[in-house]
Amino acid sequence: MFLIVSGNPKADGLCASVVDEVRRGVVDGGGAAETLTVAELARCHVCGDGWGTCLKARRCAFGGDGFDEAQARVGAADRLCLVTPVYWGEMAEGLKSFLDRLRRCDNAMRGQGVLAGKPVLLIASPGGSGGGGLTCLDQMDRFCRHTGAVIFDHILVNRWNQDYKRAAAYAAARALAEGREPGVTVEK
Ligand SMILES: Cc1cc2nc3c(=O)[nH]c(=O)nc-3n(C[C@H](O)[C@H](O)[C@H](O)COP(=O)(O)O)c2cc1C
Repeated sequence: MFLIVSGNPKADGLCASVVDEVRRGVVDGGGAAETLTVAELARCHVCGDGWGTCLKARRCAFGGDGFDEAQARVGAADRLCLVTPVYWGEMAEGLKSFLDRLRRCDNAMRGQGVLAGKPVLLIASPGGSGGGGLTCLDQMDRFCRHTGAVIFDHILVNRWNQDYKRAAAYAAARALAEGREPGVTVEK
């Protein structure tokens, strides 16, 4: 299953149109696409002196708020796309909150988390000034490095490149769903 994890709080607009293209690409590539929207997930409570049950039990003490279910869906996915509108040069807060909590539970610096080895497509849409896309992608990139997720591609979609970047999002999702592996050279 290909899971699209979205931080977008809106039902329409630039970011929503990109999510639609990713979903279309997955389906055309023969994959089963599911979408997980985490726009409203609460932030990490930062238990204890910095670590809580996340450190050893790999579960969040507050997971009943929807986090446990979201974590399980990520665990069940073979391939993922993380997609967000850019807010302040960063991920939208809901996605950041989810990934912060997931990274703690994943604790995959030991290579055993639910993300380890999974290919992930990263997409950021700075739809205002168009600034902040790189810092947002860098933040998402760092999450992947901490969890052992394997980055398939970084795509930045803004107001003036949306025609060809939406097409790129479709093509990347399709290639990933068809089984293309990160790091394998494509024949010309
Ligand atoms: C709090 C907030 C901060 C934002 N910061 C940025 C930003 O740093 N750079 C940018 O290009 N757009 C920024 N935007 C605009 C969003 O990226 C986005 O384009 C806007 O919410 C409309 O999204 P949509 O067309 O996907 O519906 C911000 C929007 C909000 C609500």
